[in-house]
Amino acid sequence: MKVDVKKLNKISEIREEVLVLGVFQGQASRDKVVNQVDDLTGGVVVRFLAKNKKFGKIFDTVTFHISPKDHKKLERVVLVGLGKPEKLDVYVLRQIAGFIGKNAVKETTSMALYLPQQAKIADNADMVVTGVATGMFDPGHHKSKNEESKEKVKVESITFLTEEIVKSDQMQKGLLMADAINKAREVVNKPANIITPEYMVNFAKKMAAEGKLKIEIFSEKQVNEMGMGIMASVARGSEEDLYFVVMRYLGAGSQGPTLAIVGKGITFDSGGISIKPSESMEWMKMDMAGAAACFGAMEVIAKLKFKINVICACPLTENLLSGKATKPGDVVTGLSGKTVEVINTDAEGRLVLSDALTYVQKNFKPDYIVDLATLTGASVVALGNVATAALGRPQKFVDAVIQAGEQTGERMWQLPLYDEYRDLLKSYIADIANISPGRGAGTETGAKFLEEFVDKKQKWVHLDIAPTAWEEGDKPYISKGATGYGITTLVDLAFNLSKKGGL
Ligand code: BES
Ligand code: ZN
Ligand code: ZN
Repeated sequence: MKVDVKKLNKISEIREEVLVLGVFQGQASRDKVVNQVDDLTGGVVVRFLAKNKKFGKIFDTVTFHISPKDHKKLERVVLVGLGKPEKLDVYVLRQIAGFIGKNAVKETTSMALYLPQQAKIADNADMVVTGVATGMFDPGHHKSKNEESKEKVKVESITFLTEEIVKSDQMQKGLLMADAINKAREVVNKPANIITPEYMVNFAKKMAAEGKLKIEIFSEKQVNEMGMGIMASVARGSEEDLYFVVMRYLGAGSQGPTLAIVGKGITFDSGGISIKPSESMEWMKMDMAGAAACFGAMEVIAKLKFKINVICACPLTENLLSGKATKPGDVVTGLSGKTVEVINTDAEGRLVLSDALTYVQKNFKPDYIVDLATLTGASVVALGNVATAALGRPQKFVDAVIQAGEQTGERMWQLPLYDEYRDLLKSYIADIANISPGRGAGTETGAKFLEEFVDKKQKWVHLDIAPTAWEEGDKPYISKGATGYGITTLVDLAFNLSKKGGL
């Protein structure tokens, strides 16, 4: 798909088939572009708006067909509601853009988009492009007689009509992000009989090749030899080999800041010997969304050539059960030398991540670490599908991560890392237990476990993306399934850190 930007002069100069006009609630009739369109329709638009005074709520939409006599190219004008101006932040804007991509433009190859000045398009053009292109994502799926899978007419070009200055590189960035997001969504959506750890290695290789990145792949044998026994303990019940993927983007050389991103890559989480109930277990094919997002972000960061070093480290394995599987009560030793009593084999994400965190600190001494993981059901209980749980330290770095999320319409909500939560992870036999005995504070104790493997002075944020990695229902702006959450946050964070030269 191509994106372009043009100054809006006269409607008669439009060359696209479809024009999408964003309108604020109750304000459409005052919009001068809407009035130009009204002239084309012989008053139909204004008559509609007079009868529908409240038109313009988020996702409201109405289509007007244009006669070839009145305009040579333009076939349709679609009005899309933006809601109230004071409520239009990047989160809402990205959703509206997603809605436009998913629903408002069908059966067309070229679209022009006009948003009123109050929509602050100049600052957020990248996210509008990302929104439209991720909205258009077709999950495809695997139905043999799928009507949906028939050749669809797809938008090939989007032209922004604006009165502001929108830089074309902002829009290219938006396209790159959408492309990475959609690739990540594809692998997260696919079932675990296809997306094995080995498949994920190949996916990582492709993303690395796209960004011309260095990539190292450690086998299960090597992971064991290197002493990453906590990570390896998770893979013992699976017939598939474990892989630990490390990608490097060195955009700043020895001078610049280094950010490490660590992603949970469990291609299927059955719970292991602490097996999950069968209800909804099928969704645990998405337990590698953190790793998929990290690979996606690496591709974009490398293509945009940010002046920062970024290390990506992702353990890839299944969490299954067999005669060889790790058993509750087993004690395992990691790269840090610390021992863990595995009380519950379903708390496996923190196990694989603990060694990955140790590895990046030992080998790269990063200035910053962000880990992304579908770590706890408790975070879904706390936040629904609406926000990611963020935990970390120091506060300034947590704020920087949340801010990068806000910039790109990815919501986060901070939870605490109080010392009392560490007390809940005491083990009588090992340095730490992998779960707490009670039911409370599941997300906090998960993060506290990870913190055990993070040096005292290390800037680190853990993002529990269990709430946001997966959309449970088909929404107006995104199809059911994987969301690709985290990619835009990581990209903007890397950019912000590269600009400031540190916090
Ligand atoms: N992968 C799950 C967490 C999860 C739940 C992700 C729902 C996405 C949606 C994780 O490995 C897990 O099983 N966590 C346990 C931890 C518990 C045993 C302390 C959980 O949340 O129940
Ligand atoms: Zn689990
Ligand atoms: Zn899991």
